[in-house]
Amino acid sequence: MHFDILTLFPGMFAGPLSESIIQRAQATGLVSIALHNIRDHAADKHHVTDDYPYGGGGGMVMKPGPLFAAVEAILGPEPRASGVPIILLTPQGRQFAQGVAQDLADRERILLICGRYEGVDERVREYLATDELSIGDYVLSGGELAAMVVVDAVTRLLPGALGDPTGALDDSHATGLLEYPHYTRPPEFRGWRVPEVLLSGNHGEIARWRRQEALRRTLARRPDLLARASLTAKDREFLRSLGYREQDKDMEMPARE
Ligand code: ADE
Repeated sequence: MHFDILTLFPGMFAGPLSESIIQRAQATGLVSIALHNIRDHAADKHHVTDDYPYGGGGGMVMKPGPLFAAVEAILGPEPRASGVPIILLTPQGRQFAQGVAQDLADRERILLICGRYEGVDERVREYLATDELSIGDYVLSGGELAAMVVVDAVTRLLPGALGDPTGALDDSHATGLLEYPHYTRPPEFRGWRVPEVLLSGNHGEIARWRRQEALRRTLARRPDLLARASLTAKDREFLRSLGYREQDKDMEMPARE
């Protein structure tokens, strides 16, 4: 998988890309990441990448020229014809979620554009980007942190990225549910014991307990997810025993205890 990242602040990526799973994925050749400074593609001698908004108002707008030039330098004169997703990170994009990460993990190459300032000239959205993604309903100072989130979530889905090949299967959201609770040694810590079933060695019982705890937790924290999760008859029976009624699936997300 190859990521091209267009940014005005390549230095922001140094830490996140040089540690842990993403670092290892690059070292083993599973992933390559090219950072491109948008400023290098500004035509004027001062390398200006932003300008005042037409119509007035505060803030600056990223000029289309440097962004088109950068993407064309990377993907060729017809970037959209390359088939490579050209993704603008913006709070106006569609919501980035596990399913989107899974789709992107099937691609060979992805190009990410990090917006800055108050916005990006609309012609970038209309004629250059093929998709727009938001990582949540809040406004960041730019798309850089969002791009790092996308790179991380996609990389860990690539076969071989995690030490344990089954590592991503039970992740929260991978199954459509929140993940079950985890415990490690010691079996008793400050008087708090690990649930006995996990010490039993009975793998069938452990799997059943984990499924039920995932359901219990999802019902308590994110009942909205249950509507889209794929549930067996046994799952539904267990949820009903917890007081879940099918119409609850439209419930608001509860406040955290
Ligand atoms: N740029 C600024 N805020 C953002 C967000 N929430 N998601 C993606 N890109 C952004």
